[in-house]
Amino acid sequence: MSSFENEGPVRVSFEGDIAQVRIDNPPVNASSQAVRAGLLKAVEVVNARGGVHAAVLSCAGRTFMAGGDISEFDGPAPEPHLPDVLAAVEASRVPFVAVLHGTVLGGGFELAMCCAYRVAVSGTRFGLPEVRLGLIPGAGGTQRLPRLIGAEQAVQLCALGKQLSAEELLDLGGLDLVVTKGALDEAVSQFVANLPERPQALSQRDLPQFPQQSYEKLEGLVRKQAKGAAAPLHNLEAVKWASEMPFSEGQPRERALHLALRDSAESRGLRHLFFAERAAAKPRILKGVSAPHIQKVAVVGGGLMGCGIAMALLAAGCDVIMVERDDAAAHSAKERLKGLLDGALSRGKMSIEAVESALQRFLATADYAQCADVDLAIEAVFEDLDVKRDVFRALDNVVRKDAILATNTSYLDPILIFEGVTWPERCIGLHFFSPAHIMKLLEIVRLPTTSDAVLAAGFALGKRLGKVSVACGICDGFIGNRMLAAYRRQADYLLADGCLPEQIDAAMRGFGLPMGPYELQDLTGLQIAWANRQRQAETRSPNERYIPFGDLLCAREHFGQRSSRGWYQYREGERAPLADPEVENMILDWGRRNSVVRHTFTTEDIVARIMAVLINEGFLIIEEGIASSAEDVDLVQVHGYGFPRWRGGPMAYAREIGLEDVSRHMEAVAAQSPNSWRIAKALAL
Ligand code: NAI
Repeated sequence: MSSFENEGPVRVSFEGDIAQVRIDNPPVNASSQAVRAGLLKAVEVVNARGGVHAAVLSCAGRTFMAGGDISEFDGPAPEPHLPDVLAAVEASRVPFVAVLHGTVLGGGFELAMCCAYRVAVSGTRFGLPEVRLGLIPGAGGTQRLPRLIGAEQAVQLCALGKQLSAEELLDLGGLDLVVTKGALDEAVSQFVANLPERPQALSQRDLPQFPQQSYEKLEGLVRKQAKGAAAPLHNLEAVKWASEMPFSEGQPRERALHLALRDSAESRGLRHLFFAERAAAKPRILKGVSAPHIQKVAVVGGGLMGCGIAMALLAAGCDVIMVERDDAAAHSAKERLKGLLDGALSRGKMSIEAVESALQRFLATADYAQCADVDLAIEAVFEDLDVKRDVFRALDNVVRKDAILATNTSYLDPILIFEGVTWPERCIGLHFFSPAHIMKLLEIVRLPTTSDAVLAAGFALGKRLGKVSVACGICDGFIGNRMLAAYRRQADYLLADGCLPEQIDAAMRGFGLPMGPYELQDLTGLQIAWANRQRQAETRSPNERYIPFGDLLCAREHFGQRSSRGWYQYREGERAPLADPEVENMILDWGRRNSVVRHTFTTEDIVARIMAVLINEGFLIIEEGIASSAEDVDLVQVHGYGFPRWRGGPMAYAREIGLEDVSRHMEAVAAQSPNSWRIAKALAL
């Protein structure tokens, strides 16, 4: 073997007539400027030396190149540009053989497509996930992929974010060989020694077919899944160019759109979330803090939440003891859990072996003594302070003194819940969202007594369960439900002042939420919010504007879909909300009796006012130290409340539209409902 020919993240060495080109740019071999420059140089070096039969291109570490360097996306792309580097690889006289492992994504997949041959380790995954960052690929992905595996499949990857396994890509003709990891070196040597005839470069191949009919069908699907985002449709369009024009025209077009989209609000919002999610997984305050390992968990209360939490724990490999009030309730809880497991099995989310293993690691009981050796106990009983305190008293008597105690309360004060518990540094809030085995958000509530190690254990558990964890302090409703309450209150003020439920719901759906506030209340039921308002009545300022529509509906037993009436009415067996003249009369009648002058609000007015309140509450939460950053607030809204991901969250949206604009709307909101809103310092004019 001759010595290395160059330095930096891309190195070239020669073994006889074979060149080895190795990229080593941890952690994921991103195509940063240094890698691009190194690759270009490598192509030069390989071709400058006579008698080289093939160049084997591979990456060090856990994966082949897994994409671009996202931190470079904020400024102009530094040279050399990826399309030029890839064109050089594709045009190289010495054929490149890509050896692929890990996750071959974005620029990595684009690079692999420029190699004359592709060999992959079984288990490798392939995709073009630029769409998830509000982009289209920028280095030929949308033009080469349809020429490799057909336009319809290319749309699945580019516009719908689908990934392919190595075996699937092989079947579609996108790979030359798939081998097991152990057989890789030998297989690559054999392959290189007997290279098949060099296939035509993808950029030179004929235009792939994309019949109008299948384009239209896919367009419907893409539009539906996009939920208002633009990038999926841009990706579809770019794939279509591949069937309409030569690569030499399609690729520059793709590049131009890619660069323009880097500067779009949608891409900025999605990149903001990408970094926020990464930062949330490793909170700075916990750097260097080691978390106690959690394996055995008690879940007290086997209702809706308790079973969802148990399901999430079991799926992550934990042992679960579920404690219920009595044997009959324990039996029902086990049945409920089995129902969840059956559902996961029938939807293909869990294998039969995984379900059997989960059942072996699960015990439902009414006997607290079974909790003696748990590492963690999570309480999910009725939302009642006395009931919860009794639970922790019982747990305190049986669990180890270092076992962590957690409450899943939505609204009660954890300090009161844990009063009297010994070793209060082990107490914490773990606020899951319903359904707990599906929803990604976990609010980790820190009490003044909670130790760093216990907080770190909360984050480690969140990670193990695949959650997005956000630390928060104590206030009514923590981060998410407090913002929800403000959002609903403002929606009610709009109802009182001139809107109807269907108008507000349509406006918020148009903004990108999956449902408006009233449809959502009907779906989840009106009673919990009703009980909360009653609980808060004593502490509510008497001067604050109070709109009683929700109370009036509950008094008429309009509890939402489950009672066939709520803010809307429902035909038997149907879930489509229908405007209810009785609700409209109730609203108008109340207005007349209270001499409220009703105004006309446009869709834009509704969105602007509701968003102003949501953003204001987000700022208040940060100013009070309940959330530690705007990023955390955005994560809560996106992962717990269906806020459109492509808008980046309410705080990112505020930055996009400008704080002055938000302040102006907040002033208008506050003037319309005097004594009802505290304006955050960040929005004070
Ligand atoms: P649920 O009413 O469905 O379940 C409560 C369960 O606790 C019942 O199975 C009951 O038998 C059991 N239980 C009551 N007292 C008990 C005791 N002393 N010992 C053992 N088991 C006892 O209620 P859900 O909806 O599951 O809520 C539970 C908790 O989770 C509440 O604190 C709630 O605020 C919170 N939460 C609820 C969410 C939701 O969307 N429903 C979302 C996030 C948190």
